[in-house]
Amino acid sequence: MSQHQSNFPRWVPLLGGLMGSTTCGLLLYAFSVFIRPLMAQFGWTVAQVSMAYALICLFFGLIGILAGRLNDRIGPRAVVLIGGLIMAFGFFMVSTITPPDKAALLAGDPAAKAVSDKALTLFYLYYGVIAGIGGGLVYVPPIATAPKWWPDRRGLATGFSVVGLGLGSFVMAPLATRMIAASGGSALPVFQYVGIAMAVMVVITALCLQSPPAGYRPVGWTPPAPPVSATAVRSEFRDYTHRETVRTPQFWLLWAAYFCGSFAGLMAIGLIAKHGIDAMSMVYRAQQGLDAAAALPEDASKQIAMLAAWAPSTLAIFNAAVRVMIGPLADKIGSKKIFVVLFILQCIAMLMLFPAGKSYVLLAACAGLIGWNYGAMFTLFPATLLYYYGPTHQGSNYGVLFTAWGVAGFFGPYLGGKLQVATGSFFVPFVVAAVIVGIAAVILMTLKAPEKKHV
Ligand code: 2OP
Repeated sequence: MSQHQSNFPRWVPLLGGLMGSTTCGLLLYAFSVFIRPLMAQFGWTVAQVSMAYALICLFFGLIGILAGRLNDRIGPRAVVLIGGLIMAFGFFMVSTITPPDKAALLAGDPAAKAVSDKALTLFYLYYGVIAGIGGGLVYVPPIATAPKWWPDRRGLATGFSVVGLGLGSFVMAPLATRMIAASGGSALPVFQYVGIAMAVMVVITALCLQSPPAGYRPVGWTPPAPPVSATAVRSEFRDYTHRETVRTPQFWLLWAAYFCGSFAGLMAIGLIAKHGIDAMSMVYRAQQGLDAAAALPEDASKQIAMLAAWAPSTLAIFNAAVRVMIGPLADKIGSKKIFVVLFILQCIAMLMLFPAGKSYVLLAACAGLIGWNYGAMFTLFPATLLYYYGPTHQGSNYGVLFTAWGVAGFFGPYLGGKLQVATGSFFVPFVVAAVIVGIAAVILMTLKAPEKKHV
């Protein structure tokens, strides 16, 4: 067998990408389900619980730098195994945190308050920091590995490596809701059982991942001929080194666009359901001739909450589906055109969000479009990086690019909440999000592939 081929079936790394990203989806995208149970059990405020989510985004994103470098040096298997076990450990350890005595806490007992404060610090440490670091170590390696096995379908392979982020939330949100109900309102058993499941899943993921031999080509595939420049025929091409990559302006333009897209997306996504409840309640009050501040009857507010929940569910479906669907399209027509169209659509969808809030159908349609455009980024940014700089240092390159998402995840939802509270309306945060996406669209319009280097 030639050194360009391998006996390892190339669908296996795709499975690894699917499994690894699903594990990360369990970790990240069902957090809202835990908020109320944790507040009730530990006496924490929404802001305190939400800070754990900001922390996990930050650590998950920033550790990408190390995850990518380690992946390029020691291969994906060891990084995913070690990172995955760290993630499972952190998640599991949340289940060992002791809650305060509720009655004593409500009565203002300082000892119970101290237990609640200590528990919060442990929650930040186990979930935000440890599980976040472990998750980031699992997330990046498949994105760098699967496309190396699929040089003919790089966008598709990238899509498989991120699709589980969407799928994980489908599994986790209903599963966790049932488990919480079955355990009398406590979220802790979810962390225990799902933590164990995560450990099993990351071992399988690690076994599915290995880098192909250098210069790997699938049977029957020949790489496309290098482009001919205006001045010279380039006889041989090589991938950019990581140092060369981060010295090109295109890399930092991509970083800025990724940051803006994630910041605006996360800022708006966190507010959509609350906006729907707010806007539909106003319509109900107007229809019933009630005062603007009047409380709604219980059945009406339940009905409105159910209708508003269509928006995040639709968003989740589109966020998952686009990740695999957009990859083949990017393989065919290149990512730049798709990027520009999606970012313009995202800007329009964000501007439509405020008026759409009064109708659950319109709100779900807007949310679906936002989920579609948001989810596409996680396939298109790594795929663009591959097209621009080549697969050899994709781990290190994408690890740095992905920090854009981590920083955006730390600040975006926080700013969204602050703007909503400060202005007393959802209008301002949605318009700010639209402007930020507009900036990203302009950046992406100006983007040109970097010149390939001579060897
Ligand atoms: C994603 O959804 C982790 O947010 C990142 O792929």
